[in-house]
Amino acid sequence: MEKVNKNVDISKMDQEQYNYEPFADTEEYRKVNTDCIHSWVEIMRRKGVSGIEALLDVATGAGTMVQIVFDNLPDSWKTAAVMCLDQSSEALKLAHSRLEKTVDRLKMVHSSIEDMTIPDQSVDIAVWGNGIHYLSKDDQLDSIKRIKKALKPGGLLFFNTAFYEEARPADTLPFYRTQVKNAVHYLRERGVKRQKSDVKTEAAKFLPKSYYEDLVEQAGFKLVEASEFTLEMHREAWEYISAFQQYAAGALRGYPISEAIEAMRGSVEPALEQHGRPDRDGELFIPRKWLAISAEA
Ligand SMILES: C[S@@+](CC[C@H](N)C(=O)[O-])C[C@H]1O[C@@H](n2cnc3c(N)ncnc32)[C@H](O)[C@@H]1O
Repeated sequence: MEKVNKNVDISKMDQEQYNYEPFADTEEYRKVNTDCIHSWVEIMRRKGVSGIEALLDVATGAGTMVQIVFDNLPDSWKTAAVMCLDQSSEALKLAHSRLEKTVDRLKMVHSSIEDMTIPDQSVDIAVWGNGIHYLSKDDQLDSIKRIKKALKPGGLLFFNTAFYEEARPADTLPFYRTQVKNAVHYLRERGVKRQKSDVKTEAAKFLPKSYYEDLVEQAGFKLVEASEFTLEMHREAWEYISAFQQYAAGALRGYPISEAIEAMRGSVEPALEQHGRPDRDGELFIPRKWLAISAEA
């Protein structure tokens, strides 16, 4: 029997070219990022920050991190100028439309982090949400050094990722294996062939927490905190993240992307039914961990 659910509502996802947005809009995603940001605002207070002149948001995406940061800042800090940097112009357009009512002094910067040119010592706080894992180790180090140059002395860098070694606890691995196995089976049944590809996406590398702790120190920062947050992810969130191009491409390397997305998304439900844990309402979930790093320039 084919274990792929074909009754998934794809209308919202397929209209998006920038297709991270549906996942970013889930309650779960907002919750885990809000938990991270609460801890970061607490660190700012502990460090004696009493206001922010300039905030840099690296890999802005749909602008989710800036929105949550502003929702959680004291009112008197909300005059901060915000620079949103992303290599996707589509993401920047979307972020601009979402943030223009929240942020008075908003500037969109169309650039990769590797090519970022921002004046030295011009930023108080840098946030890099859910994006560092896309880069190679060398590019990560180089980019963190760039951010350090852009920060004022004593400025703070915060980043998080759910793509690191400890993100998938050992007892959750059968869920991922079953999802991929079902997805591959689905593709084979349809005669979809793997196109030869030796490229391993960076997200598939899952570097350990200790690596990220060392990374900031290597770039000349002082590590302030490395915390982990656990998120209970339910079916809809898994379907949205599975439909995110980079995620599907990382899980099913070498397959044509639109077919890989279809197969990964449809394989969520049967894998959850087999391996999910019921929450208080009986809804099945698989826990996923997020790493949040705070560092001082
Ligand atoms: C998964 S989204 C995260 C968006 C947002 N920061 C959040 O936490 O919800 C990753 C974003 O990183 C951007 N991105 C990926 N690699 C990048 C790079 N090297 N430089 C700048 N932006 C990059 C993508 O265009 C995408 O908008």
